[in-house]
Amino acid sequence: MHLSSALVAALLVAFLVTSTVRYIYTRYFSRHALPSSLPWIGVEGGSCFSRARATLRSFWHTRELVFEGYEKYSKKGLPFVLPNITTGPEVILPMSQMEWLLKQKETVLDQNEVNRSFLQADYTMLHPKVVTDTVHEDVIRKELTKMLGDYTADVIDEIDYAFRKNWGVDTKEWTEITSYYSMLDIIARISNRVIVGFPLCRDEGYLSHAKQFARWVVVEAAFIAMVPKTLKGILAPLIRILDVNYFRQNSKVVVPLIKKRLSSPSIEEKKKLTNPQDDYIQWSIDHSYDRKDPSLRTVDIINKRLSVIQFAVIQSSTITLANLALDLASYPELSSMFAHIRFEVLNELQATGGEWTKDALARMVSLDSVLRESMRMWGFVSRGVMKEVVAKKGVTLPSGHHLPHGTKVGVHASPVHRDDDIYPDALEFKPFRFCSNGGLRMVDDYSEKVVGNGIPLVTTSSNFMAFSHGRHACPGRFFASQQLKLVLAYIALNYDIKPIPFRPTNLWFVNTQGPPLDSKISVRRREGTV
Ligand code: HEM
Repeated sequence: MHLSSALVAALLVAFLVTSTVRYIYTRYFSRHALPSSLPWIGVEGGSCFSRARATLRSFWHTRELVFEGYEKYSKKGLPFVLPNITTGPEVILPMSQMEWLLKQKETVLDQNEVNRSFLQADYTMLHPKVVTDTVHEDVIRKELTKMLGDYTADVIDEIDYAFRKNWGVDTKEWTEITSYYSMLDIIARISNRVIVGFPLCRDEGYLSHAKQFARWVVVEAAFIAMVPKTLKGILAPLIRILDVNYFRQNSKVVVPLIKKRLSSPSIEEKKKLTNPQDDYIQWSIDHSYDRKDPSLRTVDIINKRLSVIQFAVIQSSTITLANLALDLASYPELSSMFAHIRFEVLNELQATGGEWTKDALARMVSLDSVLRESMRMWGFVSRGVMKEVVAKKGVTLPSGHHLPHGTKVGVHASPVHRDDDIYPDALEFKPFRFCSNGGLRMVDDYSEKVVGNGIPLVTTSSNFMAFSHGRHACPGRFFASQQLKLVLAYIALNYDIKPIPFRPTNLWFVNTQGPPLDSKISVRRREGTV
């Protein structure tokens, strides 16, 4: 080996060793310049080794750490530090400081930054522009929310198709299904009916790749987050190899479609059409024409934007419905609960002559309540509102603690959702907890809006943060809520579910939780519904 090559190799090794050591020190041992008066949960004696142990523990045991900290500090009005192995420690505020948290300017505390690092968006979202452009936001807030009523009939049609395919139509024998995988398929189908429409929404290859892509983003993000920053450029593409392959497979069918849309008709001609193509690809093209930057409407970026929206629409709703299926199967009074839902749904439909209008769906409050109760217990991200200090000079908490630039600060939803002082019998699944006629106390605070006889699923508050809360609460929750409510109504109208003796508990992975992927339930089509 030449002397120069040996020198380059030695420098490379030195660089790798230094950046890895630096990363290990920062991630596991450092106090991150947080005030020494802030206690770290799970850390005894405050030694740096104890901090490293607690950080390692957060990989599988964040649940214990979050709940312990909530009881020990949050309920006494004190902040504490929660170790987090993937994205670094978080300062958890007591609920009394929620108002302060929500009032801070985005130039001081920013929620986007936390979401971006949770999803390692710069690596998992395929293109840096997809992370920062606001086309997604426009489509979600406009077409996917304001036009909900326009495609209700399509969603119902696809729900029927997807359930017949996944849960079957046998009215005599029970059919065993895996709750997670059947919901993954159902949600992928009904979302894609809106997102890409016919014929792609029935293309089995396309759907399979879209499902796989959506499933792996969060897991890959967690592993990428644990790689030293200096090595991410090399290692992230290796970690992402599966998803990039799924994306490429789908590009084969999506790219020709986008090219065709971009060439004909022209955007100006299209605006004159009375019945333009309505799907995500078209909305994304249309909104990018509102921007001055032509690089926001290349074939490549439109294609990548579509994959990213697939992740948003598939993954969270799938986990929500997989949780719901287990809650239903293990609820001892399921048949009377379904009878109540059927009564409410059929009553409302009778009033509209059988049409699923937006208003009729809004009045079906028992659907909101059942889903809200399931999400209260099993919301898939533990954090409720988490922000990052972006002000260069840091920020001072109401408690007087000063947090430096880059610190994550906020509240976790999961212990609040399971606090008996807020939700009596919080560990019990009470499906009509959020219906005022359910005979139970309505849970409210300054921001929970009670409409008619119950609280809409989409309403967020400091007591219900499954969609987060405040300015950055999930913008897709209106779209998701419509799907979830229609799915629950469909199940109650068309299926029986065989009781299971207990509800399998969820598994935690850092600060997310999900139902065991292999949990099975048995279902049977109701007589007269085939
Ligand atoms: C049951 C289904 C869903 C759940 C439980 C859910 C939950 C959440 C949560 C907890 C956040 C806040 C993350 C954070 O900043 O810490 C969030 C943000 C977001 N969600 Fe959802 N989501 C769901 C469905 C959807 C759908 C269907 C879409 C798209 C149509 C969507 C698009 C988004 C976007 C774009 C954000 C980022 C908002 C921002 O930072 O301002 N979500 N979601």
